[in-house]
Amino acid sequence: MRFRHILRADQFDRHTLDRLYALTNRIRKKRGTRDGALWLRAQFPHRRAILYFLQSSSRTWGSFVAAAQNLGMDTLDIRDPRVSSEVKGEASLDSIRTFSSYADVIIMRVNDKGLAAKAAEHMDSAGRPIPIINGGSGPDEHPTQACLDDYTLRRSFKERGGIDGKTIALVGDLKRGRTVRSLARFMQHYTGVKLLLVSPPPFAMEKDVLDFLQEHEIRYAVTDNFDQAVAEADAVYMTRIQDEHDTRGESAGVDFSKFCFTERHLKILKPHSIVMHPLPRREELSVSCDKDPRVMIWRQERNGMHVRTALLLRVLREQEMEKRWGGPLPKHIQDQLWLLDSA
Ligand code: NCD
Repeated sequence: MRFRHILRADQFDRHTLDRLYALTNRIRKKRGTRDGALWLRAQFPHRRAILYFLQSSSRTWGSFVAAAQNLGMDTLDIRDPRVSSEVKGEASLDSIRTFSSYADVIIMRVNDKGLAAKAAEHMDSAGRPIPIINGGSGPDEHPTQACLDDYTLRRSFKERGGIDGKTIALVGDLKRGRTVRSLARFMQHYTGVKLLLVSPPPFAMEKDVLDFLQEHEIRYAVTDNFDQAVAEADAVYMTRIQDEHDTRGESAGVDFSKFCFTERHLKILKPHSIVMHPLPRREELSVSCDKDPRVMIWRQERNGMHVRTALLLRVLREQEMEKRWGGPLPKHIQDQLWLLDSA
């Protein structure tokens, strides 16, 4: 896989993910020591990231800033659309073109689901060597979250044969939850996984994802029986109602109370199963469950910074090398770059 624009979950292949997570593990270790952290900070002190985050964000924004800082980079934020020249009528692509003059990578979170892809095309056709990273594209995709979720699943199932053969329940607003839409696609990299798609019927998983699952022979069952899914699953991935995407108050008439994980569910959950949530949470995952060691949410969140540090490191390494090489790198040079960071 070419590490240039990171736009969709289906860009990643299994081999790349294996190497990315091995790099993530090394970065975690390095950050734990002064020498290691200084080595990391010395990698890209001459590079700058722009975070063009027009949607609310605490974790994704914070973890990307921290990841950039881990690598010694500067960051520049555009977070409030009211103070951007888009208020004066500037087109988003012009804003993005402007940012590309000041930064080496653009990380973006916007409502428009196609804007990150359009921005990437725009950079390519303008001959600007600036990678675009999708930090959440409307209700559509969240590929870097899928990486950290997948990494968390792998670590959690390390002693139990990995993700292969596991049953994973995706619960909540599957229609507009971009995290589950991206994570479901990652299951193509494992064998024998079964997905339980648990939601109130109006917020069921969309056809495009179901088609993808079918095409890649990933087993799934659509259900609204939450208790039964909790009892069966090896991982229960909870999500919030994405009511910021309501156009006509769609969420109002839907009863979500049956899709809330409470202390009662801790008793139904198998002893080695885990609970995840991309956060922010509301009532769908009771705070009183946090003390149970099977509830992984805070670990999952911390993994975000480490995985994003690894992603940024790779993107910037390839960018530097592509500039020297004059285009996409042949496989053997890519392999050498991975080796360079595995020392
Ligand atoms: C998610 C998002 O923004 O899609 N949050 C995140 O990035 N960790 C999930 C959500 O907002 O519910």
